[in-house]
Amino acid sequence: MHNDIEKILVSEAEIDTICKEMGKQLSNDYKDSTPIFLGLLKGCVPFMAALTKHVTIYMEQLYMAVSSYHGGIKSSGDVKIKYDLEVSVKGRDIIIVEDIVDTGATLKTISALLYHRGAKSVKVATLLDKPAGRLVEFTADYVGKVIPKEFVVGFGLDYNELYRNLPYVGVLKPSVYQK
Ligand code: IMP
Repeated sequence: MHNDIEKILVSEAEIDTICKEMGKQLSNDYKDSTPIFLGLLKGCVPFMAALTKHVTIYMEQLYMAVSSYHGGIKSSGDVKIKYDLEVSVKGRDIIIVEDIVDTGATLKTISALLYHRGAKSVKVATLLDKPAGRLVEFTADYVGKVIPKEFVVGFGLDYNELYRNLPYVGVLKPSVYQK
């Protein structure tokens, strides 16, 4: 599997540092609240685990599954909810935990939906931000690392469901998806 990676963009050590700093920042910013960390499955899983280890305040963890890719390397821009929340978010502070912001379509749609359902505040914590990929206006509140417009895999990010288990984030060799 490691042979399919052209280069490493965010190393394991760098991910650790990002999670430590972001966890500290969130613990401080939300010290007077009991926020909901809302992970977007499946890509959020390693980041949610690594980040929340460093969160020192009371918090809840919830998940939704959304998709805009349907396999392949290009977003369809059409956001579908595959697994929804089973509890109310009315009056709650929400931090959406995401692996990457690319076109911005997923987070713009989900943020608006949560406000529509009565959330008090909705912020976004993302491991990666690919601003050059934006198709809709969207700014994340907590960003681990800004990356160039390349298709990346690892630490939750997949290509056709593979590579999520890589402990780092890397660029896939074009030969892999040109097959
Ligand atoms: P957006 O709606 O285009 O911002 O896309 C967000 C979702 O697209 C992420 O949660 C990922 O699942 C997926 N995605 C965006 N860029 C990449 C990438 O470079 N590699 C793998 N998945 C990606």
